[in-house]
Amino acid sequence: MKPKVLITRKIFDEVVAFVREHFAVEGNQTDTRLSPEMLIKRLQGKTGAITLVTERIDEDVLSHCPALKIVSNVAVGYDNIDVDACTRRGVMVTNTPGVLDDTTADFTWALLLATARRVVEADHYLRSSKWKGWGLMQFLGYDVHHKVLGICGLGRIGQRVARRAKGFDMEIVYTDAIRVPRSTEEELGARFVDKMTLLSESDFVTLHVPLIPETRHYISMAELTRMKSTAILINASRGPVVDEKALVQALQGGNIAGAGLDVYEREPEVEPALMGMKNAVLMPHIASASHETRLRMAKMAAENLVAGLTGRRPPNLVNNKVLSW
Ligand code: DGY
Repeated sequence: MKPKVLITRKIFDEVVAFVREHFAVEGNQTDTRLSPEMLIKRLQGKTGAITLVTERIDEDVLSHCPALKIVSNVAVGYDNIDVDACTRRGVMVTNTPGVLDDTTADFTWALLLATARRVVEADHYLRSSKWKGWGLMQFLGYDVHHKVLGICGLGRIGQRVARRAKGFDMEIVYTDAIRVPRSTEEELGARFVDKMTLLSESDFVTLHVPLIPETRHYISMAELTRMKSTAILINASRGPVVDEKALVQALQGGNIAGAGLDVYEREPEVEPALMGMKNAVLMPHIASASHETRLRMAKMAAENLVAGLTGRRPPNLVNNKVLSW
């Protein structure tokens, strides 16, 4: 009998077909988020799971699902999974790094440009038939070219964002827990500064740090008050990296000029005050959502799952010490 696996949400048919070649697959074609109770119920007897960022795999889930051997997350971030708990229980955790870097960087730029140039607001204005013709003072935004871009986290995605900034003749400053090699700084034209210097010098601040205990509320009131009143904050990393309540205060009080957000502290909830703000562009966590990239991510997750359950080391194993070989 084939081992049983769960795919927690809707993914591409061709990827499901590939997984079916190896395992008995249970899916969730309604594509609604499974409640923790339902997740536990559906995981019974499953040795593997393909999960999305909407599912939380924690100690409680693991304690109810002793058959589980691998959790294959369709995302580069895996803050939805308690990796330590998985390691203690011998459960492999995998992610999908690399394949979404350019797509996420493209989208970061879409957010940045849309926020700076008021694209969404102007689109709504036109569609609601308010536009009565060209006006010199209409929808004035902020220039992007020749400004200072501050990148928090110059990893794979942050570097792709920096490359694109060259086309806008921007000055690039960055900060990170670990400084990148000099050669990378030179290639990108990026100057290393500390976080507070970055915040006070930048016209645009874009966040590309992973969500770990040290980066929870990485941007809070102290940071927002260091930013220029004309500055724009972009977050396509993880919601809890920004203190959403502090951000609302900063936007309302004019501490900063705008924010472009793809992620939120308590997804899918969004801080209600943000909803009414014209200087915030709000996207539903879609930075990696291109046909090509989401398919690549799903395939990669499926390959990780198959490898892990057929005695091979999954190519993107996060908790390496779970395997003694
Ligand atoms: C990721 O890969 O971490 C994204 O946020 C999910 O698209």
